[in-house]
Amino acid sequence: MKQNLTLLPTRRVVLGTSLAAGAAVTLVACGSGKSADPIPSPTGTAYEATELSQLPVQGTTSVTVEGHNYLLYRPDETTVLAYTSVCTHQGCKVGTGDSTNFICPCHGSEFAKADGSVAQGPAEKALTRYATSIEGDKVKIYL
Ligand code: FES
Repeated sequence: MKQNLTLLPTRRVVLGTSLAAGAAVTLVACGSGKSADPIPSPTGTAYEATELSQLPVQGTTSVTVEGHNYLLYRPDETTVLAYTSVCTHQGCKVGTGDSTNFICPCHGSEFAKADGSVAQGPAEKALTRYATSIEGDKVKIYL
């Protein structure tokens, strides 16, 4: 007697394949978590964060906007970068740090001022970035 042995995938096989494909996409999208997030597009509401004259080139400052604290870094004449000051390790307030890194006082994590990436742990995830613009002497942050 001859049997028809058509191999149809079971539901478990199909689901497992889908999860594996989804995991691969997630890994690609997230990377290691220590690397920098891209600078977001300037969408949302623009809030005045500081005056450009108060932030010299290579300068860093901490500002409060809408009740939340942010770190601003001006790498050159025409650019201001903005990051959350909430440490990605356990939520302490990250400080303005030294000439190259923001430093968290709680456990010593350091984040590169150039892009918010982790320069030293224990934090494993980069600081969240925010879009900014310079309008005259005003630095605006988009939240
Ligand atoms: S909370 Fe910032 S290093 Fe631990």
